[in-house]
Amino acid sequence: MIPNDPVKIVEVGPRDSLQNVCEYLETGKKINLIRRLADCGIKEIELGSFVHPGAIPQFKDIKEVVDGVISIKGVKLTTLVPNLKGAQKAFQSGLKQIVFVFSVSQSHNFSNVRRTPDESLEELKKIKELSSSYPEAVIRVNLATTFGCPFEIRVKKKDILNYIEKTVEIGIKEITLCDSIGFGNPKQVEDIVTTCMKNFPKIIYNAHFHNTRGLGLANALAAYESGIRSFESSIAGLGGCPFTPGSSGNIATEDMVFMFEEMGIETGVDIQNLLSVSRYMKEILPDVNLESSLLRAGIPKQLDNDLHF
Ligand code: COA
Ligand code: ZN
Repeated sequence: MIPNDPVKIVEVGPRDSLQNVCEYLETGKKINLIRRLADCGIKEIELGSFVHPGAIPQFKDIKEVVDGVISIKGVKLTTLVPNLKGAQKAFQSGLKQIVFVFSVSQSHNFSNVRRTPDESLEELKKIKELSSSYPEAVIRVNLATTFGCPFEIRVKKKDILNYIEKTVEIGIKEITLCDSIGFGNPKQVEDIVTTCMKNFPKIIYNAHFHNTRGLGLANALAAYESGIRSFESSIAGLGGCPFTPGSSGNIATEDMVFMFEEMGIETGVDIQNLLSVSRYMKEILPDVNLESSLLRAGIPKQLDNDLHF
């Protein structure tokens, strides 16, 4: 039987979506988007990335974005960082939590951050040392390509476990298992999540699925049934990775909230408000393809006044 435990929704749209949008979205609109997302009851938002502005020009204003939202209460704010320099900038900007990304697959990590996974782990050690100067610092690791790689296709389970083990040895307590390209399937998700949880039961797990091949929600449900209680998604289903050929949007946040709430699983998110933010995305990014089922079809009329929304 499927349990009823509540889930945490982590909104990654301002990072995972916008990194794929070539057209520069002005800082005020990014800040407005993040504020509106926080108003929906979302408890954690990834604001963007502290990366080389040449690598992702969209994030050249990340410091100003952080300045514009850091005073928001009741929501954990994070940014992605690919290296020590990014972590320094993120902590200096006043953020308490950062997300460090590296890939299980050698070729994807090289294409994404120009390092081998072992070199990324060396960088992570330095970031962990740096974090000791920031008393409340939390580092979460995004383990990219856990469910498949665009270059190597299949990823070995022993490699996943090896990199989790090395990450844990550095002192990291939170890991996101990422299907960076939407290759995973529910059976595989169940297998990998169960194996990771069995081998590293003390880790706080989070899951990140792309809907590239239509399996995003099925994978999220499989991860939930396997014990994960924290899920990343992107408002309006926009997303992808500029260094991952063929990748497309994350699960749309409103679709995921709809699924869980309809199942009686609390998300704490106001879906009507969320839909209005999704429509705002359409307004500020009129030329970008949005892949949200709820935005297209709406909430069924008889559910409009349903109490659990
Ligand atoms: N933020 C800003 N500038 C940075 C930086 C960061 N996090 N990291 C490096 N730089 C700057 C360096 O200061 C240096 O600048 P200079 O040329 O003016 O001296 C330059 O970038 C090169 O530094 P180097 O350490 O050699 O980095 P690199 O060229 O090997 O690039 C990354 C590595 C990781 C910084 C770059 O590939 C990157 O930002 N990738 C983006 C990855 C990403 O976000 N992917 C999508 C998310 S999964
Ligand atoms: Zn992603």
